[in-house]
Amino acid sequence: MPARQRLIIAITGATGAVYGVRLLQLLVDHPSIETHLLISDAGVLNLHQEMDLGRKEVEALAAVVHNVRDVGASIASGSFASAGMIVAPCSMKTLASIAHGLSDNLITRAADVVLKERRRLVLMVRETPFNLAHLRNMTSVTEMGGIIFPPLPGFYQRPQSIEQMVDHTLGRVLDLFSIQHELTPEWRGMKGN
Ligand SMILES: Cc1cc2nc3c(=O)[nH]c(=O)nc-3n(C[C@H](O)[C@H](O)[C@H](O)COP(=O)(O)O)c2cc1C
Repeated sequence: MPARQRLIIAITGATGAVYGVRLLQLLVDHPSIETHLLISDAGVLNLHQEMDLGRKEVEALAAVVHNVRDVGASIASGSFASAGMIVAPCSMKTLASIAHGLSDNLITRAADVVLKERRRLVLMVRETPFNLAHLRNMTSVTEMGGIIFPPLPGFYQRPQSIEQMVDHTLGRVLDLFSIQHELTPEWRGMKGN
């Protein structure tokens, strides 16, 4: 077994590039996590549009970078151990491809592998409103064991900034992988007990 757990992170072309970037920032010096990053072409467009970031700046935050066209990469095989995969954000196109098992690029192949090996797959799907294809594809992924995790902010802890909203959501994603963090205070009830 590797010294650090590998965690595959993909950034696709849905709005919300900040979720993928912040996730990488949170894990960049993590002692027990080795990030494996994939960015789709549309993901690169949105990094520019939403954050003025280029591919190289984001890739510098990852331990290992993979090319989405390299379907011969390590993460394309189930024999390569990993804790699982987070797609942050996940477009409806990538969702559809995963739901139908297409494996048409390294992002969807890696997700397919994570599902077949019964590892954890979290898709931070983003679109609004949803059409029936989107909803059916989310159901299919759920039936296969994947977790549909739309980045919908909660307001009950009274976030004061976009950064707090993003961190609160990502804290809940990290919880799904039992990765320790201090982003999301545990809810102690209305009276704080
Ligand atoms: C500025 C911008 C915002 C987009 N937002 C979304 C979105 O929120 N959800 C979505 O499913 N697609 C969105 N798209 C469309 C996807 O980028 C497009 O379907 C693309 O083919 C997805 O490819 P990928 O999954 O390989 O990244 C957006 C595109 C642009 C340019």
